[in-house]
Amino acid sequence: MKALILSGGKGTRLRPLTYTGAKQLVPVANKPILWYGIESIVKAGITEIGIIISPETGEEIRRKTDNGEQLGANITYIVQDEPLGLAHAVKVAQSFLGDDPFIMYLGDNLIQDDLNLFLDKFKNKHLDGLILLRSVPNPTAFGVAEVDNQGRVLKLVEKPKNPPSNLALVGVYFFSPGIHEAIANIQPSARGELEITDAIQELIDSEKIVESLQLNGWWLDTGKKDDLLEANRIILDTNLTINKLGNIDENSKISGRVNIKEGSKIINSTIRGPVIIGENCHIENCFIGPYTSIGDQCTLIDADIEHSVLLEGAQVLEIHQRIVDSLIGQRAKLEMAPQRPKALRFMVGDDSHIELV
Ligand code: G1P
Repeated sequence: MKALILSGGKGTRLRPLTYTGAKQLVPVANKPILWYGIESIVKAGITEIGIIISPETGEEIRRKTDNGEQLGANITYIVQDEPLGLAHAVKVAQSFLGDDPFIMYLGDNLIQDDLNLFLDKFKNKHLDGLILLRSVPNPTAFGVAEVDNQGRVLKLVEKPKNPPSNLALVGVYFFSPGIHEAIANIQPSARGELEITDAIQELIDSEKIVESLQLNGWWLDTGKKDDLLEANRIILDTNLTINKLGNIDENSKISGRVNIKEGSKIINSTIRGPVIIGENCHIENCFIGPYTSIGDQCTLIDADIEHSVLLEGAQVLEIHQRIVDSLIGQRAKLEMAPQRPKALRFMVGDDSHIELV
């Protein structure tokens, strides 16, 4: 059994962050989204992992994740020159996958459930395909399945105008090597892509056995800012270990579950968890409220922030209004004049969004 993680794509919905970085590397609780997927695959006992990367963001993914040793995996990188669809990515990975069955995992998805339960069903029933489903309020935004009462998949449609059900395809799939023949038999869709939903439909039409299971836990597709903040909130709620390795002075108050990494200085500040603070940060005269993740090398002075994500090297200086629900990119700097400002001065990247509320 192998795994194939799809980590290409342009991440248009997370711009401007994704102009300079891969969407799968945007951190949730200070860890790249992609790494959660790798960890969950490794936990299911699969270590041979291929990662599909694009020419634009692939190098960054490779540099950060390397050969996967730190995560217990053995990673092979496979470049998909153009984003021609999920089934196209499988085609590009064919020599890596060989005749092995495999899990296909979309690198910007996060699921709570252990993969083992699904993997056992896939193996024990010798399925040709197993898909994971979740009922959603907006099925038109996803691939949608129609299933019988045993969970057998009857029909799949990608982003349907008139969805046959409210069961969305979660970005985690299990396939036997038979999927390669199915992919060879499909044509590009109206948007010019080889769709994995069409390939699965091809399996069904040629009487192969495709079943489904519904997720029990949460599922987050981290494509947009609010989804990312929600993922951050859930991971901080469920996965944060308390650790205070930084230097905390006696005028600071830390309460709740807080993780502060090596080399960070906390001076005259209140931190109310769940909060994670990376390495070598400088935090002075601040209130850091629940559900905040602060990346490495950030500086916050006279700031008040909660329910937000700051990426590496961000700075927030002398802003006395509370900052909420914010996503602040790498090395971005927000500062305010010490006296009440008479004007606002910005240098803001493309597709940024500033709300003075
Ligand atoms: C892709 C799949 C879709 C699936 C979704 C899950 O869509 O094509 O069937 O429901 O992932 O995240 P995309 O996110 O690429 O639009």
